Amino acid sequence: MPNILITGATGFVGGAVVEHLLRQYQGEDINLLLLVRAEDQAAGLARIKDNLEKFDLTVEQLNKISEQSILLGDLSTPEGFIQDARLDSVTHVINSAAIASFGNNPAMWRVNVDGSLAFAKRMANVKGLKRFIHVGTAMASMPDKDSVFYEDMPDNEHNEDLVQYTASKRAIENLIRQECPQLPFVVARPSIIVGHTQFGCRPSSSIFWVFLMALKLKKFTCNLDDKIDVIPVDYCAMVLVNLCLSETISHDFYHISSGEDLCTPFHEIDASVAKANNTTAIVGEYQKVSYAEFAGIRKQFKDILGPCNDKIILRAIKLYGGFAELNVKFDNQRLMDMGMPKPAAFKTYIDKCVSSTKGRSIPELMMVDFK
Ligand SMILES: NC(=O)c1ccc[n+]([C@@H]2O[C@H](COP(=O)([O-])OP(=O)(O)OC[C@H]3O[C@@H](n4cnc5c(N)ncnc54)[C@H](OP(=O)(O)O)[C@@H]3O)[C@@H](O)[C@H]2O)c1
Repeated sequence: MPNILITGATGFVGGAVVEHLLRQYQGEDINLLLLVRAEDQAAGLARIKDNLEKFDLTVEQLNKISEQSILLGDLSTPEGFIQDARLDSVTHVINSAAIASFGNNPAMWRVNVDGSLAFAKRMANVKGLKRFIHVGTAMASMPDKDSVFYEDMPDNEHNEDLVQYTASKRAIENLIRQECPQLPFVVARPSIIVGHTQFGCRPSSSIFWVFLMALKLKKFTCNLDDKIDVIPVDYCAMVLVNLCLSETISHDFYHISSGEDLCTPFHEIDASVAKANNTTAIVGEYQKVSYAEFAGIRKQFKDILGPCNDKIILRAIKLYGGFAELNVKFDNQRLMDMGMPKPAAFKTYIDKCVSSTKGRSIPELMMVDFK
């Protein structure tokens, strides 16, 4: 019976992974162990169930998780949980915990690199461990502007990281490869995860607010014809579980991405959001502007976006504008070769993202990405 350890299950991706496992393996024998930050088992279980409420699971499905499923622990102090004997019977790991923030969280390196390495070293000593899926991020490759990034390409060390987060994500992959050669280590790097095909942004408003903000401002730093590689979280979760539980696997590195043909042009996001809102697209009024021009109109932000801190909005424009301008696509040939389906195109579920964020302000929606 697979005994799967999942980290990050109180978050967006880890929550969707647990959702997928509970739906897919209902009634089957799998055992889940979930690393959670909490005071005690009961509080840990409550945090997991709180997150899973966003995915409309049945009581029976939720009941597969109990206090015994909870492994209390914090990656910033891994010594507090890596002695737990339950780790010795883990057969599979999906490691999605990280500080996934574009902000300057002072704990980022401690959690994403040092603590994650200590955890990987511990798991490398587990005899029955079949696979350790590490969730990276495609942006850690620091791709060139207007490029397609292929899975056999080395990371572009000559480009600079736009945020400390991508540097930390690349560093931990390299360290685990160097220091844990016996770990059955597979890196899966998702592109940009936005919403869920059924529940829209109910599980998380991560990144969707950037599109809403650009549409409200009628300006951003990219062209409307530029494309963005977006996948829904339920697709990402399905792939992670498949990569984790497949008996055999051909590579130790995969992109989870929409691939070249399904990348979404910004004008399509504009049209789809307008359709969902029953309004007209902004295409005729849209202006591509520089960050400096945005800085010049910062005092207007509150009139357009509602009460907000213009400094924070400007910082968000700088960070997310930098990524949007890249116009990069991530090739997903390895998943296609495995027979995986393609992800749903963003335009097919944008309406759900729009309806699940109705009535919420941009400053409120963006908080999730600045932890
Ligand atoms: N979202 C995207 O667009 C995207 C794209 C590419 C890759 N990824 C990768 O996907 C993974 C998950 O991201 P996400 O979007 O799901 O982020 P998220 O919603 O912020 O979830 C992060 C998870 O990590 C946990 N975590 C953070 N610090 C921890 C610590 N010190 N000890 C133990 N657990 C800790 C959080 O637990 P708490 O609830 O206790 O804070 C939460 O469960 C990350 O590795 C990220 O790099 C995400």
